[in-house]
Amino acid sequence: MGTPARSGAPVSLTIDGFEVTVPEGTSVMRAAFEAGIEVPKLCASDNMEAFGSCRLCVVEIEGRRGTPASCTTPVTEGMVVHTQSSKVRKIRKGVMELYISDHPLDCLTCAANGDCELQDAAGQVGLRDVRYTPGDNHFDPKGIGARSQSEARLREGPGNPQYLPKDDSNPYFTYDPSKCIVCSRCVRACEEVQGTFALTIEGRGFDSRVSAGAGFDDFLSSDCVSCGACVQACPTATLQEKSVAELGTPTRCVITTCAYCGVGCSFKAE
Ligand code: FES
Repeated sequence: MGTPARSGAPVSLTIDGFEVTVPEGTSVMRAAFEAGIEVPKLCASDNMEAFGSCRLCVVEIEGRRGTPASCTTPVTEGMVVHTQSSKVRKIRKGVMELYISDHPLDCLTCAANGDCELQDAAGQVGLRDVRYTPGDNHFDPKGIGARSQSEARLREGPGNPQYLPKDDSNPYFTYDPSKCIVCSRCVRACEEVQGTFALTIEGRGFDSRVSAGAGFDDFLSSDCVSCGACVQACPTATLQEKSVAELGTPTRCVITTCAYCGVGCSFKAE
């Protein structure tokens, strides 16, 4: 949702019937949060600039066409916002259905089970059924128009043939592209939090995926400095600490700052 605006003229608006006053420049999502209203989100995070890619945080604003993303929409004086109208709830459910249709359904055995923002968001929007099966949207069984990477994803992958293989090369974390929702939080954390610019999004549409940079085969051989900012930012188990996979979800978090970069790394521990 982006860091809250701390200065600027006060702006008053109404969200779901509640009056709220926030500084100019605050996003609608942040203003809703200040009013005690939680808007579902996946790509927004408190320590990074809003990006507006997941479309889960859409709202209705009276007098305005469409359903803008609340994380990238700044408040204006007198604005009347609805975060729970039947229209936006339907849109969010549809968006989440598409995410889940292209995501492995192995929650019970996934290391992030119980600590997964995708899982939480699916519950938040009330998703109970998914009408699409994996591959419905990006694979033409007759081969007409089938794109190479999508086709390879369906045919190769060990165990479950529809997914690309996991990158296990980094000693501290794993990268599982099958669980990626391409929210770009890891890429932005690498840039905005760490300033390393080691990650990027490769490909387009269904073929788009996080990559450790063009020309690198895996994370270990890339410019990644293993700072963990991307792992911390990931809302699913796509980037997963190996210790979590081995020992389970930690119960506390320790933040340390060393002289190496001064960013302040967050370590989760039992
Ligand atoms: Fe607003 Fe993703 S949280 S578009």
